[in-house]
Amino acid sequence: MKKITVNGPAKLSGEVTVSGSKNAALPIIFATLITEGISELRRLPDIGDVRVALDIIRSFGAEVLSMDGVTYIDTRRLSYCQPSEEQTAKIRASTYLLGACLSRFGRCRLSSFGGCNFALRPIDMHIDACLALGAEMREGEIFAQRLLGSEITFKKQSVGATVNAILLAVSAEGESVIRGFATEPHIDALIDFLLSAGASIERTEDEMRIVGRRLHGGKATVIGDMIEAGTYLSVALATGGKVRVRDCPFVDMSSFFKTLTAFGAENRMSGNVFSTSLRGRGEYISVTALPYPGFPTDLQPIIAPLMAIGSGGDITDTVWHTRFGYLDTLSDFGIRSELSGNRARIYPSKISPAKVTAPDLRGGAACLISALAAEGQSEIYSAEIILRGYENLTEKLRALGADINIQEF
Ligand code: UD1
Repeated sequence: MKKITVNGPAKLSGEVTVSGSKNAALPIIFATLITEGISELRRLPDIGDVRVALDIIRSFGAEVLSMDGVTYIDTRRLSYCQPSEEQTAKIRASTYLLGACLSRFGRCRLSSFGGCNFALRPIDMHIDACLALGAEMREGEIFAQRLLGSEITFKKQSVGATVNAILLAVSAEGESVIRGFATEPHIDALIDFLLSAGASIERTEDEMRIVGRRLHGGKATVIGDMIEAGTYLSVALATGGKVRVRDCPFVDMSSFFKTLTAFGAENRMSGNVFSTSLRGRGEYISVTALPYPGFPTDLQPIIAPLMAIGSGGDITDTVWHTRFGYLDTLSDFGIRSELSGNRARIYPSKISPAKVTAPDLRGGAACLISALAAEGQSEIYSAEIILRGYENLTEKLRALGADINIQEF
């Protein structure tokens, strides 16, 4: 177990560079299982979820070598195995084994897929995509002697089910047409990787046409992490500091920037550096988490401490209706809120230090922001949950002037 100790308040200032995106890196790592060759991945973030994903693909025989900022993944000699439940239960992205294993080995055992427990996270649409392309389910295992191109129309946008549908279609015989898919930037990043590996994918606004082919090794430079960028910008505003975020993927973050502007932040963009600061008290803001290009559900917990420091606000989450468990933990920092259905009202509050356990990855990041803004010492237990998604978190915050330490115990 890890514990983060913060001595606040910190007025953070300086520059921080955004790492590669967790949500873009993970589908690409699992997609390498479908290729036969050596893939070259750049800007892979060194975070808990990526390490687990690499361990899982190693269990199939993938050879992974990292050198000079490039991760080489050799998938020429793979054989099917059952990855340990202990590993798959750690990360949500292990659901991508469905598409990757059916494509490469024609089978996949349904095991416990992990991730943050902020809601029941169904996989019915993932399974439907497998069945649509000719797979069959038997005793907790899913098989496909041949995957056949087909039409898939999703009833709602799901990042995970879209990733799996693509992973299946790129190796199915003939053409598949996918509609109703998620349009997050990490979906495009996966498509770019698969194209570099020889896939045939045509994507318009509302339709993807994919013709199955044998894939060779591919190349990718992982896109910048918009959630990490949003976290550091929120840290700057919550602590009354001024932080420049380098390699900020601002094209992907327009809904977040609109919210910062409504809050009263002064935002500046120069080249690929985005900076923000706040004079006076933040305004009341309303946020509705929606599929991309709407406000990201992953950033809604992170914006909550800002609302409390400012004039309050309200958050509606249409992606995960129950993603508000973190508010209980934030109440230990003095953040007052009221929940009604999938809408939370956050009241202006005096933030005080607290000893808490990180409730989940992004809820844990919200605790960290609160700890940095509070006057006195805070402790966040189960900090490894936060480190699942943030590369060099304590080092980056320390470089911005935070008094922060991490201990193993
Ligand atoms: C979602 C986010 C993603 C974020 C992640 C973790 C969206 C569209 N996706 O991804 O950006 O990184 O949460 O916070 O914002 N659903 C079903 N059946 C399924 C799969 C999903 O009903 O088989 C529903 C879910 O209950 C949820 C919605 O679809 O209401 C979106 O889920 P999905 O995009 O699959 O979640 P993740 O891929 O985990």
